[in-house]
Amino acid sequence: MDVIEVPDPDDARLADYVRLRDVNLRKSIEAEHGLFMAEGDKVIRRALAAGYAPRSLLLTRRRLSALSDLAAAVDAPAYVVDDSVVERLTGFDVHRGALASFHRRPLPPPGEVLDGARRVVVLEDVLDHTNVGAIFRSAAGLGVDAVLLAPRCADPLYRRSIKVSMGAVFTQPYSRLADWYGGLDELRSRGFHLLALTPDPQAAALADALEHAGGQAVALLLGSEGDGLSSRWLEQADTGVRIPMSGRAVDSLNVTAAAAIACYELMRPSARPG
Ligand SMILES: C[S@@+](CC[C@H](N)C(=O)[O-])C[C@H]1O[C@@H](n2cnc3c(N)ncnc32)[C@H](O)[C@@H]1O
Repeated sequence: MDVIEVPDPDDARLADYVRLRDVNLRKSIEAEHGLFMAEGDKVIRRALAAGYAPRSLLLTRRRLSALSDLAAAVDAPAYVVDDSVVERLTGFDVHRGALASFHRRPLPPPGEVLDGARRVVVLEDVLDHTNVGAIFRSAAGLGVDAVLLAPRCADPLYRRSIKVSMGAVFTQPYSRLADWYGGLDELRSRGFHLLALTPDPQAAALADALEHAGGQAVALLLGSEGDGLSSRWLEQADTGVRIPMSGRAVDSLNVTAAAAIACYELMRPSARPG
């Protein structure tokens, strides 16, 4: 265990942890250095269990004795700082007392995560990190084999996505499409039935469409928080499908709620692809 006291928030050894709430700054730091940030000891342990290599650990002095086993488990320097230092450095009160910086791994190409997959979720431009994290949690919990992301979709390894997913982003197989326009071609060439999730009342009911998919592998397409799926992806799908709604007060569900319901429907024995 390599525990190092760092009294100065401007110390270069803490550079991975700077201004964690500044989304644009974080995106550029994390892309430049190929890192991601995990928050809280449970999530850090899940990243370690999934085989991610740590760059360093940051612990508050207050939590050091409770988390000494974590410091011992991490094969990287463990920096110990006062609460006031961590707040100045990161921009918020790290009340769980632990952050860790990890090396990213190259993402597998889409074909690799689709090999053998029967139930797939495809996110077009879901831009909110917490929504991406919540969808990964539902996908992992409800037996989805793989998640594909359109090029503009938010990063599952962003700190907020990881936290909301409870670490599901570490184990759920996923990949990013290189091309938005022709991005669904590979799914089609592999025989997937493409179902475009839309609140459009003219669309077929999801449960009926799944029954009619006849045991084919299924890909559920979900659209952005604002505009939903693009007309290009709606046209590319085999069928538009809706989760029937009451018609009272709201005309669509939050994308995370729609994803959870759709993944549950896909898992039901009558809908399960053979
Ligand atoms: C907030 S909605 C977008 C609403 C947008 N006005 C539209 O017409 O799609 C985000 C995504 O959640 C999914 N969604 C929301 N409500 C749904 C419903 N009742 N049935 C199926 N999918 C739904 C769709 O994939 C949609 O693209």
